[in-house]
Amino acid sequence: MKLNIKRFINNKTFFEEFNVDFKEDETILELLERIRDNKDRSLTYRSFCRSSICGTCAIKVNDKTVLACKTKVKDLIQNDELIIEPVDRAKIIKDLVVDHSFIEDKIKKVKGWFVDEINEKEENIQMPDELKKYDKQTDCILCGACYFECEALDFEKNFAGPFAFTKVFRFVFDSRDKMDDQERIEIAKENLLYNCISCQKCAMVCPKNISSVMDIKMLQNFDKNPPFGDNFNNFF
Ligand code: SF4
Ligand code: SF4
Ligand code: FES
Repeated sequence: MKLNIKRFINNKTFFEEFNVDFKEDETILELLERIRDNKDRSLTYRSFCRSSICGTCAIKVNDKTVLACKTKVKDLIQNDELIIEPVDRAKIIKDLVVDHSFIEDKIKKVKGWFVDEINEKEENIQMPDELKKYDKQTDCILCGACYFECEALDFEKNFAGPFAFTKVFRFVFDSRDKMDDQERIEIAKENLLYNCISCQKCAMVCPKNISSVMDIKMLQNFDKNPPFGDNFNNFF
C-alpha cells in the first residue's frame, strides 16, 4: 500500500511517501503509530483517548475529515493508496497537528454553557421526555470535524460554525437552562446563524451522527425575530 503523508516542518510543506503493508483491521491512528515507531520518529499527530471521546484526532484522509482512532484503513483506501493531510480551515502547528484554540473561542462567542441558579439543597431534575429534545446534541465531542469541512466559512470567517450552533441548540432546548431562548438565538445571529449555506458537509462527517445543519434550521425556525433584511443569506 502506498501512503502519502503531508508534512509541515520549519515552515516547509511537503509530501512524504511510505510503502507499508495493508492490514485489514487497522485504524488510521494505528497506521500512523506504526509509521512513527518503525519509519520516522519525527512524524507528529495528535491523539489521546483512542476511542472517539476526546475529539483530538481529526485529520483528512483521501479528502475526507475523519477521526483517526475511529476510522479503518480499509474503509478509505482507494487504488491501494491513502493520502493523509492535516484538516482544512485551521492553522497547522506541525505535520498533522492543528491549532484547536478556535473551538474554545467559538463556544465563548455563542455563550455555549449552562446558565443556572445553583441550589445546593435540591437536584435539578430533568425528565426523559425533556432530555429527548437535545440528547443527541450532548454527544458532541468538540472534535471540530464539522467546522473543518464547513463551506460557509469560506465566505465569512466570523461564522461561528456548525458545532457552536449545535451547542446553542443544546441549551435552547434544555428546559433547565435559565438564559432566555430568544436571547440565545440573538447571540447566535450575531455570530451569523443565517449564513449556513446548507452544504450538508457537517452532517456527512460528524463521527457522532449529529446533524448541525438541522440544528441550525431548527434554531432559525424557533427565531421569533427572523432577519429577512441585510443579514439573511441570499443563497436561499
Ligand atoms: S450545512 Fe451549514 S453549517 Fe453545515 S457545513 Fe454546510 S454551511 Fe456549514
Ligand atoms: S458536531 Fe460532530 S463533527 Fe462537530 S464537533 Fe461535534 S462531534 Fe465533532
Ligand atoms: S483519540 Fe480521542 S477521539 Fe480519537
